[in-house]
Amino acid sequence: MVHLLGISGSLRAQSFNTALLRAAQAAAGDGVRLDAATLHGIPLYDGDLEQRDGMPPAVRELKQRVLDSDGLLMVTPEYNNGIPGVAKNAIDWLSRPAGDIGRVFGGKPVALLGASPGGFGTVLSQSAWLPVLRTLGAELWAGGRMLVSRAGQVFDANGSIVDAKIDEALRRFVEGFVNHLRR
Ligand SMILES: Cc1cc2nc3c(=O)[nH]c(=O)nc-3n(C[C@H](O)[C@H](O)[C@H](O)COP(=O)(O)O)c2cc1C
Repeated sequence: MVHLLGISGSLRAQSFNTALLRAAQAAAGDGVRLDAATLHGIPLYDGDLEQRDGMPPAVRELKQRVLDSDGLLMVTPEYNNGIPGVAKNAIDWLSRPAGDIGRVFGGKPVALLGASPGGFGTVLSQSAWLPVLRTLGAELWAGGRMLVSRAGQVFDANGSIVDAKIDEALRRFVEGFVNHLRR
């Protein structure tokens, strides 16, 4: 059984990226468990808070889930051509204490994907993650790309994918990542 953890970088109830993660769960084949993590409850990183109270419970829980997974699906929105603060903040917490970085991220296979109502499908946000992943020593899976543009036409009001091509591309993307992990 391959165990993936998907993290949506959006807190919105109607988030396209969370919908994309749910669709990836549906697209995962036999022998794959894809759990979804939320970033709700993760406070803003504050070194004083860390020093005083240690890891917040939501961070501790997410870190354990990352440790328990064989690979991460990071489903990233794009804000101002970069990484949304909510998502970067969560990864910053997970990188604390620095002595844990190797255990949590070292060699961890990561697949990036994202959805945007605009025409470029989070391409700049995905690129902006690259130096972060490199710094943490994660292993970016570059065997596929999943950039969902014009998300308003790809998902219906319930967050289901209504574009068969995107559905198929997502299935192939998840399958490619899983095959990589199995090798
Ligand atoms: C502050 C802000 C900046 C944004 N900047 C971009 C951007 O640079 N590129 C883009 O494609 N979409 C941008 N958007 C639109 C987001 O892609 C859109 O809000 C999307 O729905 C966010 O993802 P979500 O649906 O998963 O919450 C921006 C939205 C906000 C709120």
